[in-house]
Amino acid sequence: TTRTLLLLPGDGIGPEAMAEVEKLIAILNAAGAGFETERGLVGGSAYDAHGAAISEDDMKRALAADAVLFGAVGGPKWDTVPYEARPEAGLLRLRKDLELFANLRPAICYPALAEASSLKRELVEGLDILILRELTGGVYFGEPKTITDLGNGQKRAIDTQVYDTYEIERIARVGFELAKTRRGKVTSMEKRNVMKSGVLWNEVVTRVGREEYPDVALDHMLADAGGMQLVRAPKQFDVIVTDNLFGDMLSDVAAMLTGSLGMLPSASLGAPDAATGKRRALYEPVHGSAPDIAGRGLANPIAMVASLAMCLRYSFAMIAEADALERAVAAVLDSGTRTGDIMAPGCRQVGTSEMGDAIASA
Ligand code: NAI
Ligand code: MG
Repeated sequence: TTRTLLLLPGDGIGPEAMAEVEKLIAILNAAGAGFETERGLVGGSAYDAHGAAISEDDMKRALAADAVLFGAVGGPKWDTVPYEARPEAGLLRLRKDLELFANLRPAICYPALAEASSLKRELVEGLDILILRELTGGVYFGEPKTITDLGNGQKRAIDTQVYDTYEIERIARVGFELAKTRRGKVTSMEKRNVMKSGVLWNEVVTRVGREEYPDVALDHMLADAGGMQLVRAPKQFDVIVTDNLFGDMLSDVAAMLTGSLGMLPSASLGAPDAATGKRRALYEPVHGSAPDIAGRGLANPIAMVASLAMCLRYSFAMIAEADALERAVAAVLDSGTRTGDIMAPGCRQVGTSEMGDAIASA
């Protein structure tokens, strides 16, 4: 079988981290995985080449690929480019055109890094939870979205939270499907006590769970109480499914449970294709282009490597390979090999490519 991957390294540390992922793809191919990789430009590097944050040609290739691996975009060099061509516009265009409505943000705390968490070791050691954020609806896109001048020295800002049944159904299904491959538990978070969208969210998730996933345990939390529980006892969760705004906030909180930004992968998935059942998908680290360390071989490539592991797991059902890659990362951390961002006393500090080599050899 041929598996096509579009690599969009982007700017700053994006290309440095992507180079380590390419080493791992070469190892997988040597074992017969059959990945065909193409390379494209996104963000500032695309602007420099084409005057747009992603070219139409690369958009076509993204739509045709089985999966997209995305590095990071942005940097001071492009702070003054026209708004439509700003680096983030490339990522937003990809999310929109690939219709990536489901954003998966795992929060995994490797035992070797438990001290780096903002919480006590015993609360986070071995933590493995998944926050599933709805990515294309809600208050980020609802209309009206306006600021009007009221004429008396006052202005009025309006954002509108809108969710339709189908949007809640499809994100709920992704949550239940993921839970089936994990510990079989979904926690849905909304604020039905003050928001109509929360009432509908609760109703639809409950129905989808009852009718389609009776074997998955479902509970509900108000999103504020859920945020509290996330820092009080995070290991109680398996999959948390929530809307765009709450998911944005809760996943950033969860990130701090695990230590460094340089460790965190993410996946954004679309709807399954009616004919093939395949979902469009984009995998990217949570971190940005880190201009403060870019070009110096200092970046931690693990977030990008863990994004490849998610890609193997979710786009290609290569579960054994994904597990092996995640175990390799854990083994390298256990051995005390660290990039600067996760350095600890008694450990050995290495650069980006040495970290990639260590993972490759593990
Ligand atoms: P950032 O994530 O790039 O960096 C924040 C801090 O974490 C920096 O001190 C950086 O050195 C460190 N860091 C991040 N990733 C690291 C890694 N892999 N290894 C070691 N250290 C790491 O966020 P910041 O500074 O707010 O934004 C920098 C640029 O990145 C901006 O232009 C921003 O717009 C862009 N950005 C892009 C994102 C994307 O492409 N999805 C996401 C977030 C920011
Ligand atoms: Mg955020």
